[in-house]
Amino acid sequence: MAAVVPFRISRKYISTITCTNGRRLYSSTQKNSVLTSRDVRRMFIDFFKDRHQHRVVPSSPVRPRGDPSLLFVNAGMNQFKPIFLGSVDPRSEMARYRRVVNSQKCVRAGGKHNDLDDVGRDVYHHTFFEMLGNWSFGDYFKEESCAMAWQLLTEVYGIPPDRLYVSYFGGDERLGLKPDRDTQEIWLSMGVQPNRILPFGMKDNFWEMGETGPCGPCTEIHYDHVGGRDAARLVNGDSADVVEIWNLVFMQYNREADGSLRALPQLSVDTGMGLERLLAVLQGHRSNYDTDLFTPLLASIHQCSKCPEYRGQTGQSDVSGVDMAYRVIADHVRTLTVCIADGVYPGMSAAELVLRRILRRAVRFSIEVLQSPPGSLARLVPTVADILGDAYPEVAKETERIMDIINENEAQFLSSLSQGRRVIDRTLQRMDGARLFPGSIAWSLHRNLGFPLDLVSLMVEEKGVAMDTETLLRLAVEEEKLKTEAQASDTQSCTQLDVLTLTELQNKGVPFTEDSPKYHYSLGKDGKYAFLPCQATVQALYCGQALVQEVYEGQRCGVILDQTCFYAEQGGQNHDQGYFTQDSQPDVLFPVEKVQLVGGYVVHQVTATEALRKGDQLQLFIDEAQRLACMVKHTATHILNFTLRQLLGEEVEQRGSHVTAERLRFDFSIKKPLSTQQLQEVEKMMQDIIKRDEPVYAEELPLLVARAIPGLRTVDEQ
Ligand code: ALA
Repeated sequence: MAAVVPFRISRKYISTITCTNGRRLYSSTQKNSVLTSRDVRRMFIDFFKDRHQHRVVPSSPVRPRGDPSLLFVNAGMNQFKPIFLGSVDPRSEMARYRRVVNSQKCVRAGGKHNDLDDVGRDVYHHTFFEMLGNWSFGDYFKEESCAMAWQLLTEVYGIPPDRLYVSYFGGDERLGLKPDRDTQEIWLSMGVQPNRILPFGMKDNFWEMGETGPCGPCTEIHYDHVGGRDAARLVNGDSADVVEIWNLVFMQYNREADGSLRALPQLSVDTGMGLERLLAVLQGHRSNYDTDLFTPLLASIHQCSKCPEYRGQTGQSDVSGVDMAYRVIADHVRTLTVCIADGVYPGMSAAELVLRRILRRAVRFSIEVLQSPPGSLARLVPTVADILGDAYPEVAKETERIMDIINENEAQFLSSLSQGRRVIDRTLQRMDGARLFPGSIAWSLHRNLGFPLDLVSLMVEEKGVAMDTETLLRLAVEEEKLKTEAQASDTQSCTQLDVLTLTELQNKGVPFTEDSPKYHYSLGKDGKYAFLPCQATVQALYCGQALVQEVYEGQRCGVILDQTCFYAEQGGQNHDQGYFTQDSQPDVLFPVEKVQLVGGYVVHQVTATEALRKGDQLQLFIDEAQRLACMVKHTATHILNFTLRQLLGEEVEQRGSHVTAERLRFDFSIKKPLSTQQLQEVEKMMQDIIKRDEPVYAEELPLLVARAIPGLRTVDEQ
């Protein structure tokens, strides 16, 4: 661990800094002070806010809302995806964003960007990290973003320019993508030495959000920890000495489901800089684990363990693997704390499953390598809250609950560990001399008991038997295939208008759908609801990923109308079902299969029973019984939310809900499972409220206005 003297910092950006026990770390009269993580985060935000008029947007939760293509939020740009794609609701606040800055909680532990396997082995990969980012949505582009980044790094943070290297996209002939000469020229014109401006291909300099989604060429800024040399050949070379610190992406394309690239309607900038790496640079360390984001955690881990203190060794030098264990635990407990605070709990599917693996990996390292007693992992949560709570208050709000969840899951794992050992022993006995441990049993231990596969292999190999990896691989591939098929069938939906179609609709002057008729109903004296009829004109038809004038019998299409009484899926409530008829043929029904709101347009998915044309006049009929059932259950979620908080206290926090005609699901967080008695009380109180038969008020308001209403509770949705 070479300690380099930290750089001098532009005073203008620092005021007095105090640590949690009140001891003053820095005041503007002191020299050579080291910036803390809090300073670095704040200076980044202030630079873009004050000097370059960016709007500060808070971090979104790490669970992506409304984006099945992601397990976790993996980059600052995720919450802005609808802006890049042009599908942002034009009435929303987000539609007005032009310049934005934020510090985003990110998790890279699954999907396209997955750093899980590197964590612990090296000193700069993490499953949870903070991404500092600035964005331009159709505002500035390459020149300004490069200039701002260089100014912040060299003038504000004071990094010597001769420690920096930049890369740009060198093009890809096969894909017909040209080298990004503009960016090369921009860096040259800013005085960067030509031998420090390096071209790279798709892998390093073309950033993509996931298998599909916004993407584009990027330019990266790399830092050489050694200095005083030409380190160009080490850029992008997996060296701990030369690391990428900032990625500036020029968003120009959308990666379509068929793999092709389609140009986006406006040019945007998306940047991301890992706070942990930047901090290591500014605090003069090679390793992110030597910064104040980690050192208090490593000290807390040591207190519980029976091992020597953390020494920062990696690879062969880390003989007993103790330092790797320290890093894995420190990294994983941050991820667990942040995810649980955001409502992702260790569990059995998708993101929950990944979190469960992370928890189990941390527990194994804690108990087996550091020989810490059970419960040690959860005891680290308050330290994480101290470190991150300032920037992300939700992390510090519920430390006890987070600790309880970690402890419960740890206990479950320890019990399934002994259960798994028994399964393995019994199988080995029955194998009767066979050489290969059955892959199907290993897979079932993994799938059903949540055993990490490497652990199963290890336990089996300890008994001198090899694993049937062929079967194991086949089962894993089959599961992956099923997942991909499920995703593909979702993307084939006719309601998912792509960005170009949305732009085309706007360019053609197709007005956003007027959907207030969905609320045109009244309660009659007989206690029955009457839904008013609705007439509409076909404005656009979307078929085979293109806008068409006409669709024919049997074709599945998306229908956009001038107005609609159909409720599009939103706010956790399922979409309406029903049908259209044409004025010209009132006896032919067009059943509506799905209704979604995309970028201000309500899109009805219909399989045409007859030809349907742009301009056709339609009568719309919703399935009233289905809507009424949804309305009733939607109201019930509000009553349930209210009741739970009345009976169980303010700690109850809604995490989501899903309402269909058949059932309602209400997700909430609470420390302990409810007892039968508590459930009965909830039921009784809800029934009492329902019996009072009070009126229900509903009104659509801008979010900012709604938030100002006293007593009104909101659940953020993207
Ligand atoms: N979205 C870009 C990244 O994550 C900035 O690297």
